Amino acid sequence: MARRRKLYEGKAKVLYEGPEPGTLIQYFKDDATAFNNAKKGVITGKGVLNNRISEYLMTRLAEVGIPTHFVRRLNMREQLIREVEIIPIEVVVRNIAAGSICKRLDLEEGKMLPRSIVEYYYKSDRLNDPLVAEEHITAFGWASAQDIDDMMSMSLRINDFLSGLLIGVGLRLVDFKLEFGRYYTEESVIVVLADEISPDNCRLWDSGTNEKLDKDRFRRDLGGEREAYQEVARRLGVLPEAGPMDLKGPKAIQ
Ligand code: TMP
Repeated sequence: MARRRKLYEGKAKVLYEGPEPGTLIQYFKDDATAFNNAKKGVITGKGVLNNRISEYLMTRLAEVGIPTHFVRRLNMREQLIREVEIIPIEVVVRNIAAGSICKRLDLEEGKMLPRSIVEYYYKSDRLNDPLVAEEHITAFGWASAQDIDDMMSMSLRINDFLSGLLIGVGLRLVDFKLEFGRYYTEESVIVVLADEISPDNCRLWDSGTNEKLDKDRFRRDLGGEREAYQEVARRLGVLPEAGPMDLKGPKAIQ
């Protein structure tokens, strides 16, 4: 198959033109960045694992009625997705205090929050993704009040569903970041879940030991990042048989 035209390259993924109009191919790289690209590295096999983990979680979410951009996995590092117009807002849902909220509000890491908290960040590398309020989002036209409503209600459902699914495999969903896009059909436009859901954009702690099994291992120089991502994939039942370096590809795609 000829290499398709590259449309966009981000920090962890590349988007290529899809096989038919309205589709794209999302390629998962092993590159890892943190602190808005200030820290760079490679986690060997990460792309293979995130492709599988995101496929699995988006498929489960679709089964409970969350519309997503995911169509199907194509191979070890690529998935077919629907082309959407990305809303320039990162939605973060937090259940347990960790990361930036601890600094901002002087909270102790690991403390259960009084309830799940939804935050919005404006997607801008230049501005370092600042925290913004709904007022900013609607005033500057980044998203409509209806878009915000859709993103908020989907994010809370996703949080409930994923928290349950993950605790079932011994993982605490501490917090996570979602991105949404507008999917245009002939008759309408709907807001759908886009990007990926993986240990790159979730904090996942072992429910017994609170061991960090996510990108914080890279951000905080804890080591063992590949093993952590592998462990998440293994618990979800999607670890490639010969490990993430298995280039033979899966025997079956459901
Ligand atoms: P934070 O505590 O650094 O604000 O991160 C909250 C969650 O969002 C955490 O699970 C990591 C994720 N995240 C991203 O996916 N991309 C980002 O650029 C940032 C800052 C956080």
